[in-house]
Amino acid sequence: MALLIRNGEIVTVGSRVQADVYAENETVTTIGKNLVVPPGTEIVDATGKLVFPGFIDPHVHIYLPFMATYAKDTHETASIAALIGGTTTYIEMCCPNRNDDALAGYQLWKSKASGNSACDYAFHMSVTKFVRETESQLREIVADGTSSFKIFLAYKNFFGVDDGEMYQTLALAGRLGVIVTAHCENAELVARLQEQLVAEGKTEPEWHEPSRPESVEAEGTGRFATFLENTGAAGYVVHLSCEKALNAALAAKQRGVRLSVEVVLPHLLLDKSFAERPGIEGMKYVMSPPLRAKYNNETLWSALALGFVDTVGTDHCPFDTDQKLLGKDSFVNIPNGIPGIEDRVNLLYTIGKRKRIGLDRFVDFASTRAAKLFGLFPRKGTIAIGSDADLVVFDTNYRGTVSVKTQHVNNDYNGFEGMTIEGRPSLVTVRGKVQARDGKFVGERGRGRFLKREPKHF
Ligand code: URP
Ligand code: ZN
Ligand code: ZN
Repeated sequence: MALLIRNGEIVTVGSRVQADVYAENETVTTIGKNLVVPPGTEIVDATGKLVFPGFIDPHVHIYLPFMATYAKDTHETASIAALIGGTTTYIEMCCPNRNDDALAGYQLWKSKASGNSACDYAFHMSVTKFVRETESQLREIVADGTSSFKIFLAYKNFFGVDDGEMYQTLALAGRLGVIVTAHCENAELVARLQEQLVAEGKTEPEWHEPSRPESVEAEGTGRFATFLENTGAAGYVVHLSCEKALNAALAAKQRGVRLSVEVVLPHLLLDKSFAERPGIEGMKYVMSPPLRAKYNNETLWSALALGFVDTVGTDHCPFDTDQKLLGKDSFVNIPNGIPGIEDRVNLLYTIGKRKRIGLDRFVDFASTRAAKLFGLFPRKGTIAIGSDADLVVFDTNYRGTVSVKTQHVNNDYNGFEGMTIEGRPSLVTVRGKVQARDGKFVGERGRGRFLKREPKHF
């Protein structure tokens, strides 16, 4: 059915205009004032509201076997939560581990998502080893439309690659024009520091941060950048958490390394005092890189405001409290991860407004930039003729509170519990179909499609 969103303020990077948006056959076909539309068109009055392009979360975990358990969401629960919060596309980390076959892993992740996601999706393909068949498998995966890789410098012997494997991955990515996203922490130092702390009887969640200090992340970030510099590949640091790592990334950008930077919601809004709470309360806030000393929040917000940081994702990775308790005897065994897919847009909008960050930056770091970096633009990440009609009508008058009691994520706590939001989507569409309204899912469960993407980074 055709859709008209009437008289909202359409906000895209570089433009704010009061107009109507008309969509037919899944795409935006007309933008203008007082549009006359065919009978039968679904009409939504957006007077007094903002109309944003669908938001993109460039870093989520949904199906994830990790740390002796599985992340809690399904593609259905995560995508419904995403839509209610205004995210219409997510990019999931496809994460077979070192003992798995990469191609079989890719097919497994695709099969988990297929027919089960209510919004559109893509994958970053993790390269967790580089063996004889890796190059041909990765070529096949890129030909299938997955044009970004992921490497982990952390998680030794599980997801982690060594420097030789990083070099081979980046060299191939450079030849294929594929961007490589990277979790940047020095695996050896993490392992040694964990060992040392546990031997000293320091096993509570508060010791997670000291086991992976800022210098360990800065080293990983700097090393990744040096390898990019020497292979010519394009790279993207995921979940950069602190000033030291930011300085390493900015120094690399300044000398011309093709490097982009992502921060994630927990590192903007939470700090290490949350993980220092005793027992299960602290465990809920264990993720890697860890929540940091509070001053880093402001550093990251400023970098975001200035455009030194490119995107904001969530690193959505839900584990219930009974799963977190796998680490009751040692922080080393606490499943790493904090959920956030449902709350990202509302919290970024709310806190961004308080910090006087313009809507232009907001749309860029929460949608457009990810679309550009990952080969989705202009299909996604903007409102333009020919773009997919992924639209978020945003009610800036809404006032509410984030809570586990009202969330749709399949998880028994919310790390952002009690934070107030000043605005939320009143309507969310995926390719022209209304999928969420005022905090409720009202759409078609399996509507989401796998997004094929061309390599862009030659
Ligand atoms: O703690 C985190 N970040 N969990 C998910 C896996 C990862 O490193 O992204
Ligand atoms: Zn990571
Ligand atoms: Zn992650």
